[in-house]
Amino acid sequence: MKVKKNEAEKIKKLLKKEEIYDGKRRPQRVKNYILFPITDPKKAQNLGFEVVDVELPMRPERQIYKNLESFLKEKFTNEELSYLRRYDIIGDIAVIQIPPEIEHREKEIVEGLRRVYPFLKVVAKKGFHTGAFRIRRYSIIWGEKRLTTIHKENGIKIKVDLSRVFFNPRMKGERYRLAQTVKDGEKIFLMFAGVLPYALVIARYKNVDITTVELNEEAVKLGLENLKLNKDKLKGRIHLIKGNVFEVGPKLETFDRVISPTPKGVNALRLALEKAEEWVHYYDFVHENEIRKFKEKIYRECRELGKKCEIKVRKVSDYKPHVFKVCADIKLY
Ligand SMILES: C[S@@+](CC[C@H](N)C(=O)[O-])C[C@H]1O[C@@H](n2cnc3c(N)ncnc32)[C@H](O)[C@@H]1O
Repeated sequence: MKVKKNEAEKIKKLLKKEEIYDGKRRPQRVKNYILFPITDPKKAQNLGFEVVDVELPMRPERQIYKNLESFLKEKFTNEELSYLRRYDIIGDIAVIQIPPEIEHREKEIVEGLRRVYPFLKVVAKKGFHTGAFRIRRYSIIWGEKRLTTIHKENGIKIKVDLSRVFFNPRMKGERYRLAQTVKDGEKIFLMFAGVLPYALVIARYKNVDITTVELNEEAVKLGLENLKLNKDKLKGRIHLIKGNVFEVGPKLETFDRVISPTPKGVNALRLALEKAEEWVHYYDFVHENEIRKFKEKIYRECRELGKKCEIKVRKVSDYKPHVFKVCADIKLY
């Protein structure tokens, strides 16, 4: 969003209040204007602001550790601080990575986290996602011996068991963005639904029908619990199917919109395009030099299906150096 420099501070506050300020990106100054990163261009336009099509840079990861870092500043050297990795707070569990260079400082890091987030009950170190269900390995380094918790996000409660299901709290902004894009009355197909974070956030804001498919039985069980936990808050309806997307999907009718938070290494593009009438939001992991190739692949698949499309690929988060998790927003004709 393009705003005059002398009005920038006031407008930034308003954007935060309206929950459309994209804190993951950096604003940019252009002459007497500031470009603010936003999550919902339509809403900004409705508020009377000028929206320009510019991709603002992601904030460096380190920015996100500000709270913990300021606490550790006095005790840690700059070099030690530079090894701190991004952490997540999921309900009352802190999830961190501690590189070998600062493993000997683990106790102080845990103490720092507990000071900054006094409500914590568990601190766990995270390993990598494994297998088709994309479950991470964790080791608990402080607190209660559990990885179950209730996380709050976008006004809903999400029960998770990190030892049994996939959950990524960093997609909060992305879920909000999709919920704002969806219109009342839509029929939506959510593939790879997990414990239902996308479905719940969308159904909280919009009166829609969402069909979800998930293969991991534990995630389906938690999804059902999450429906109960949030039933008074939902405008829309969510239908759960336990099964394999590639077996269940082809038997379903078509939908206004298909959302695919695709597990890494899986290709569900064709199915997503087949099942959608108007919109597809397809997540994938792409090297920054291969975004054009990724787009071409989507155009090609659309052509093969006899559909025309417009595609916008957005970087959603860093995955590893030069590789991003991206979302292709595909409008079909
Ligand atoms: C990247 S996670 C996304 C989960 C959820 N949408 C979220 O954002 O928290 C992918 C999910 O797909 C599920 N999954 C993997 N292969 C599947 C398949 N063939 N059919 C249905 N679900 C599958 C996994 O169990 C996992 O919950």
